Amino acid sequence: MKQQLLITGPMYPPTLEELERTYDAKRLWSSADKPALLESMKDITAVASSNSGGIDGATMAKLPKLKTIAHFGVGYDTVDVDTARKRGIAVTNTPDVLTDEVADLALALTLATIRRVPQGDRYVREGKWLKANMALTESFQGKTVGIIGMGRIGRAIAKRCEAFGVKLAYQGPNRKGDLGSWAYYADPVELAKNSDIVIVACPGGEATRGLVSPAVIDAIGPRGFLVNIARGSVVDEPALIEALQQGRIAGAGLDVFVDEPRVPDAFLAMENVVLQPHVASATHPTRKAMGQLVIDNLAAHFAGKPLVTPV
Ligand code: 8YV
Repeated sequence: MKQQLLITGPMYPPTLEELERTYDAKRLWSSADKPALLESMKDITAVASSNSGGIDGATMAKLPKLKTIAHFGVGYDTVDVDTARKRGIAVTNTPDVLTDEVADLALALTLATIRRVPQGDRYVREGKWLKANMALTESFQGKTVGIIGMGRIGRAIAKRCEAFGVKLAYQGPNRKGDLGSWAYYADPVELAKNSDIVIVACPGGEATRGLVSPAVIDAIGPRGFLVNIARGSVVDEPALIEALQQGRIAGAGLDVFVDEPRVPDAFLAMENVVLQPHVASATHPTRKAMGQLVIDNLAAHFAGKPLVTPV
C-alpha cells in the first residue's frame, strides 16, 4: 500500500508527478475542501511544501503524527519552522543545487538594470533607434557592490562580481573570517552608504523583514541601485517605490516582491526598474535537482534513514 503524502504547494511539475506516482499524494493548495482533505489525511507523517504553498502552525496542528516537511526551495520562510521545531518535526530544504543558478540571475539582473538591457530591447522594437541613439547609461565598472547576506548565494554572487573587477562589501550577522579583503558592515545603512549597488541575498522571514529600510534606501542614493533576488519581505517596498519615483535611488532590479505574483502597479509604470517573475532558480536542470532533493528527503523519511538536507 502506498504511503500518504500531503503536498501543500505547487512545485516543478515532473517532481509533482513523481511524488503522485510514488505516494498516495493529495494537493492541498488546489483542494476545494481543505478542512475535509486535512481530516482525511490526519495520520500522515510527511508533507511536501513550497514557496507559494507553505505550511503554518494551524495546519500542522491538524496533523498530529507529522514528522517531516520536505520543502521545495532553499528559502523556507513559508514554513513555520518554530512550530515545527517545538513539535519535533524535521524540515528539509534544497540548498546548493540552486546556488550558481540564482547567482547567475543576480548578475544578469544587476547588469540589465544598470545598462538598461530591457529598455534597449524595447527601444529597438519600438523603432526609436531610427530617430536617435538611446541615452547613455551608468556603468558597472569601477563600482562597489554591497551584498546583504554572505551565505552560499551571496558568496557565489561575489565570486562573479570579482570577475567583473568591481569592489566588494558585505553585510550580515557575522564578519566572515575568510573574506578579509572585503569590507564588512554590521549595519545595512553603513553598507549602503559605502556601496553603489546593493544586492539582497539573505534569507527571508521575520529576522530580515524590512531590513532594507527607508534609511538603507536613502543611503544607496540617487546614483545607486538595488537588486533583490532574495525575498520581497526584506525590502520596504512602499519606501522603495517612493524613492524610485522621486529619483532618490537610480534604479532597481527585482526578482521578488512582497505579495507576488501581484506586483505593485507603480513598478509597472517605471522605466528605471527591471522586473522578473521570481525566476532566479527557474531553469529545467536546477528545478529538477531541487525536486530530486525533495524526493530523496521523503524517501529517507519513509525508509527511516537520516534526512539528506535538514535545515
Ligand atoms: C523558488 C526560491 O522560486 O529556493 C528558493 O528559496 O525562492 C526559489 O527557488 C521557490 O522555492 C519555488 O517554490
